[in-house]
Amino acid sequence: MKPVKVGLLGLGTVGGGTLNVLVRNAVEIARRAGREIVVAHAAAREFNRESLDGIDTVEVTDDAFKVVENPEIDIVVELIGGYSPARELVLKAIENGKHVVTANKALIAMHGDEIFAAAQAKGVTVAFEAAVAGGIPIIKAVREGLAANHIEWIAGIINGTGNFILTEMRDKGRDFADVLAEAQALGYAEADPTFDVEGIDAAHKLTILASLAFGIPLQFDRCYTEGISRIEPQDVTYAEEFGYRIKHLGVTRRTEKGIELRVHPTLIPERRLIANVDGVMNAVLVKGDAVGPTLYYGAGAGSLPTASAVVADVIDVTRTLTTDPENRVPHLAFQPGELSDMSVLSMDDVETAYYLRMTAEDKPGVVAAVAGILGDAGISIEAIKQKQPREGENQVPLVMLTHRVLERQMNEAISKIEALDAISADVIRIRVESLS
Ligand code: HSE
Repeated sequence: MKPVKVGLLGLGTVGGGTLNVLVRNAVEIARRAGREIVVAHAAAREFNRESLDGIDTVEVTDDAFKVVENPEIDIVVELIGGYSPARELVLKAIENGKHVVTANKALIAMHGDEIFAAAQAKGVTVAFEAAVAGGIPIIKAVREGLAANHIEWIAGIINGTGNFILTEMRDKGRDFADVLAEAQALGYAEADPTFDVEGIDAAHKLTILASLAFGIPLQFDRCYTEGISRIEPQDVTYAEEFGYRIKHLGVTRRTEKGIELRVHPTLIPERRLIANVDGVMNAVLVKGDAVGPTLYYGAGAGSLPTASAVVADVIDVTRTLTTDPENRVPHLAFQPGELSDMSVLSMDDVETAYYLRMTAEDKPGVVAAVAGILGDAGISIEAIKQKQPREGENQVPLVMLTHRVLERQMNEAISKIEALDAISADVIRIRVESLS
C-alpha cells in the first residue's frame, strides 16, 4: 500500500518532536497503522535543521498554504497554534479533502463547532488528542473508553506551565517570573504565556473536555477563568497548615441546574493523588456513573509527550482512511445531531467551599464581626486561624475555611467583610474542592 503523506505545519517544539517520533519509530508505527507514514511537506519560517531527524527528505516551505494546497498530502498536521491563520489553514485543508490533526486547543475551543461541521460535510476527520493534557490520551479515554458512562464530573490539572510554576514556588521558594522564564525555555509555555498564568489555556482545554463529557457545543466564552498570578506564598503555607495543596484546577460538573465550567486555583486535600501531581505533569480525574472515579496522569507539555499524542492521532486517522465517514468516532463523542442544549451555569450559581484570607486589625471583636457576617449569610466556618502580627505591626492575617455555599452568597459576604473598618485590603478567596 502507498505510504500516507503528512504535511506538517510548524517545526517548533511540538512539530520537531512529531517529525522525530515519526522517523525514529517509523517501523513500529507502520506495523501499527498498516501503512508507512511519511512527512512529505512541512511549513516553517525558522527551524533548527540539526535537531530534526529525516528533515533532508522533507520539502520545507515558509508558506503554510502551499502545504494545505499540495494534492499529494493526505493528512495536514497543524502545530502552529493560535486562532489565525490556523483556522483558515485548517478550513482550507478540509475543503481540499484532507484529514487534519491538531494540537491547537485555542482553535478547537473557539472554532471547533465550525471546523467539525465543515469536516463532517466533507467526510474528513479532525483529530485533536494533543490539544488537552499533552501526552495523556484523555480525549480517547473520555470519548471512547468511557463511552458507556453518564459522566458526572471532570477535574484536572491541565496546564503544565502553571503546575510547574506552583510546584517550584512551593518546593524551592523560587520567584514566579524566574520559573515562568524556565518554563518558556523548556518549551512548555504558550507563545503568549499569559494564556498559561491567567488560566486561558486551561479554559480552552476544559471547554473541550466538557463537550466530550456532556455532549454540549463548545462554549469557551461561558467558562469562568481565573489564573495563578494572584497566589501568594503565604496562601500556599496556610493551605498546608489546613492539610491542603493549592492546584490550578479545571472543573466541569453536571448539576440539575446546568453545567459548571470553571478554571481557578483550588485547595485540594493533600491526601488526594491529584494534590501530589507536581511539575509539568498533568492529571485528570473523570467520574463516570458506571466506572466510578478514574485518574489519568502524564506529562502535560513538552516536545515528545505532545508529539506522542499527535502521532497517535496520525496513526488513528491512517487506520480509518478506508472506513465510511459515518462509521468513525464522532468528533465531540456524541453524534453531531445529538448535542444537548444544557446551559452552562454562571459562577454565581456554583457551590463550593472556600479558603478566605483577610488582613485584620489586631483588636477585640474583629473575628466576631467577620463570623457574624458569614453567619448572617448562612455560611458555616469549618476552621479559622489568626496568625501572629509581625514585630511592630498591628495587622494580622486571618485565614479560614468555610463549608460549601453558593458563590453569590459568598460574594455578598465578602463585600460586607471588606467594608469593615478593621479589615484592610481585599479578601483573598480560593475555592476548595474535596474531590471525593
Ligand atoms: N502551555 C501548555 C501547558 C502546553 O503548559 O500546559 C500544553 O498544552
